[in-house]
Amino acid sequence: MVNEENVIGNEREDELTNRQGHPVTNNQHVRTVGNRGPTTLENYDFLEKISHFDRERIPERVVHARGAGAHGYFEAYGTFGEEPISNYTRAKLFQEKGKRTPVFVRFSTVIHGGHSPETLRDPRGFATKFYTEDGNWDLVGNNLKIFFIRDPLKFPDLVHAFKPDPVTNVQDIERIFDFVSHSPEATHMVTFLFSPWGIPANYRMMQGSGVNTYKWVNSEGEGFLVKYHWEPKQGIRNLTQEEAEVLQAKNFNHATLDLYDSIENGDYPEWELFVQVLPDGENPQLDYDPLDPTKLWYKEDVPWQPVGRMVLDRNPEDYYNEVEQVAFGTGVLVDGLDFSDDKLLQGRTFSYSDTQRYRVGANYLQLPINAPKKRVATNQRGGQMEYHVDRGEHQNPHVNYEPSTLGGLDEAENPGVEHTPYVEGNVKRESIDRTNDFAQAGETYRRFTDFERDELIKNLVNNLSTCDERIQQQMIENFTKADPEYGRRVKEGIAQMNNDMNSSGPIGTTKTDEAVQQAEEMSH
Ligand code: HEM
Repeated sequence: MVNEENVIGNEREDELTNRQGHPVTNNQHVRTVGNRGPTTLENYDFLEKISHFDRERIPERVVHARGAGAHGYFEAYGTFGEEPISNYTRAKLFQEKGKRTPVFVRFSTVIHGGHSPETLRDPRGFATKFYTEDGNWDLVGNNLKIFFIRDPLKFPDLVHAFKPDPVTNVQDIERIFDFVSHSPEATHMVTFLFSPWGIPANYRMMQGSGVNTYKWVNSEGEGFLVKYHWEPKQGIRNLTQEEAEVLQAKNFNHATLDLYDSIENGDYPEWELFVQVLPDGENPQLDYDPLDPTKLWYKEDVPWQPVGRMVLDRNPEDYYNEVEQVAFGTGVLVDGLDFSDDKLLQGRTFSYSDTQRYRVGANYLQLPINAPKKRVATNQRGGQMEYHVDRGEHQNPHVNYEPSTLGGLDEAENPGVEHTPYVEGNVKRESIDRTNDFAQAGETYRRFTDFERDELIKNLVNNLSTCDERIQQQMIENFTKADPEYGRRVKEGIAQMNNDMNSSGPIGTTKTDEAVQQAEEMSH
């Protein structure tokens, strides 16, 4: 973004300067003693240019490093089914039909680095920042509606197993299934991930989901459990493994380009936001815990209600400033939206702003992409890279504390009756009661089309057949508990694969080895 304030020079519009505003008269040669060197150290232009270059990168996100983003707006419908939405939430952005709130969305893949292929089997991130009149709301979701685990203590292990091996720096399917086979609650997510749903065709044609259970709070202070879902108006499209491999050979940036080009061509992608609502509490009528992020709330039990739509109509001006430095977090809520007791959600809420203070810096919320579009007035001062003071218009600049009689900031009015859930219990480390780890995995398997089931089995067999036999056994046991046919087909597929391998030559001579050998021979 160009800073147009205080431009006092009368230099040419296209004149190159350094960051001190000095005109750069020679950008081709460092200063040297004679034209053969040595170079001189007082060469400010060179030092300034190269030292900024040396710092061009900040740490990548520890997960979701590869992403693409776009600006747009959210438009509310004002209703929830037949009722005014205010019966369920007092959040201002949802109240009025037609009310628009600016948004920024970042889509991402999860496991690999910043320039990795967008064709890989991986969940996709779908994070939305709503710049509301009450401050920012971040809905940090994925394309799939459930997650691998329900306890945040397991997250670093889960990610380590999926990330490259710490010795070889190569992702290893055996490490993935080693972890997953010991985490029965992951069976449901694995069922989605190894089906065609594990490789969305692009970002425009995929769903989004908040995954975790949140709360809505109405003006009476009454709370409801809610789940959020984005449904693409463009339709949904996934890729088979083969389709993804063909595409990857030609273009592994396809999802970023698809989003960018569509918006550039005026073909703006659109999603409808649906919400499911359950009464606050344990909901004993369900055979799972409504706070368990490994579970779906089936539509037939908890209907989806449309509450608004989102259109993305503007590409970022600068990738780094907007897409790289944007910072989303599950703790970023506005009045009328609240947390549930979902343990995974609470663990996430610490992790996001913690990593962003490290990744972007202590004042990451002052960057234009992260700053709310409403007035900000705090008593926080200083910190690395602070560049303006978030001071109230009439605030006495000497008073950066509260309370005060000397013209400081005052607490805001409470916007409504506070939601004050009652909790009691012994402090302990224990699993939830209704774990029910396999039933929904089996149900998902049965609800898939024949094509989806065949792809799922093929992908699982291809990947599991290279794993240690003990891991294969455990995975087959988990799939069998989900659905006996599911387990049987994976078992038979692996046995068949072993037969084929035994009859196709000595172990270790794979087609890839042969191809490499041939290529080497040809190059001599
Ligand atoms: C990114 C932690 C589970 C969706 C991240 C980041 C961290 C993190 C540290 C990097 C943030 C940054 O550098 O700005 C965790 C932890 C989890 C968890 C500790 C569980 C305990 C989930 C789940 C979802 C999810 C269940 C889906 C609902 C995302 C998305 C991003 C992300 C979309 C990328 C945001 C962006 O585009 O900047 N997560 N995560 N995460 N996470 Fe999670």
